[in-house]
Amino acid sequence: MSEHRLSLAPMMERTDRHFRFLMRLITRRTRLYSEMVVDRTLIHGDAARHLDYHPAEHPVALQLGSADPGLAARAVAVARPWGYDEVNLNAGCPSPRVQAGGFGVVLMRTPERVAEIVRAVYEATGALPSVKHRVGLDEHEDYAFLARFVEVVAASGVRVFVVHARKAWTQGLDPKANRTAPPLEHAKVYRLKRDFPELTIVTNGGVGTPEEARAHLAHVDGVMVGRAMWDRPWRWAAADRLLWGDAHTPDRRAVLERYQAYLHERLAEGVPLRVLVRPLFNLFKGEPGGRRWRQQLDAALRAGRLPAGGLAALAPVEVGA
Ligand SMILES: Cc1cc2nc3c(=O)[nH]c(=O)nc-3n(C[C@H](O)[C@H](O)[C@H](O)COP(=O)(O)O)c2cc1C
Repeated sequence: MSEHRLSLAPMMERTDRHFRFLMRLITRRTRLYSEMVVDRTLIHGDAARHLDYHPAEHPVALQLGSADPGLAARAVAVARPWGYDEVNLNAGCPSPRVQAGGFGVVLMRTPERVAEIVRAVYEATGALPSVKHRVGLDEHEDYAFLARFVEVVAASGVRVFVVHARKAWTQGLDPKANRTAPPLEHAKVYRLKRDFPELTIVTNGGVGTPEEARAHLAHVDGVMVGRAMWDRPWRWAAADRLLWGDAHTPDRRAVLERYQAYLHERLAEGVPLRVLVRPLFNLFKGEPGGRRWRQQLDAALRAGRLPAGGLAALAPVEVGA
């Protein structure tokens, strides 16, 4: 069974260590990806601020933004002591800022460049990155373009390809529209798996439930989920059972108590309450009492502290169920 069977997608301003920790309490098996961190930020910035994570988060992957073999190798060398289970190279993001840096989806035009980056990282650190990309970009929407990208990059040693199953427009669509407007083309990703059976192929885009994820697994090795995990975290409490056959399902009260203990540890380190509470807002969205939960979290934030009974005291009555 692939280690990439189900994963949480890298999402800027979403998949920080706190949301990842919360997801880990909900699913023990899902692989968790960080927000993208740019190579120079790790080399010149406060690396610990971007790299620290809780040991319970494993398996956890670091997503790197880079267009330069030398900088990528240096950045991965900086990250090495943190012991991430995987480094993933971003070749899928179409945001103008990322394009200006020459990385993200525009890298799909130069698979040789991606291969160089991969080799440099491997030679300097021994880590073989995975690559996250799209099925195409702009005028390059034929399957042959996608297959050539994968072939050239795989020749550098990459074994894991995460494919956002829609193309990106580098002009005229903002990043948000680029996640909705181009149609989903999971069939192209399935075809990649048929044509490159030795590679680990993960599909991504528009997967809303663990049941949908399971259906994709008939065709590919793994499924990556972004927005549906942020919007409906609790829905994924069924993932370990449905995708791995585990008997265990998480208990709501235990999740809240463990997150609360975590929250106090981070508060003591100076992390603002607002940052720690943010991942919780959607926790019970769509569930009985979910709206009240959100209102009470809001009130706690305005008051600047949690009530004496902690998170469990705020929880909808059904939480004990
Ligand atoms: C708020 C937000 C931030 C994102 N940031 C990143 C990122 O840093 N790196 C990346 O490769 N993709 C990023 N993505 C794209 C997601 O990883 C994913 O490919 C996309 O949302 C499609 O999956 P979904 O339909 O399951 O959300 C982001 C998506 C969202 C919604």
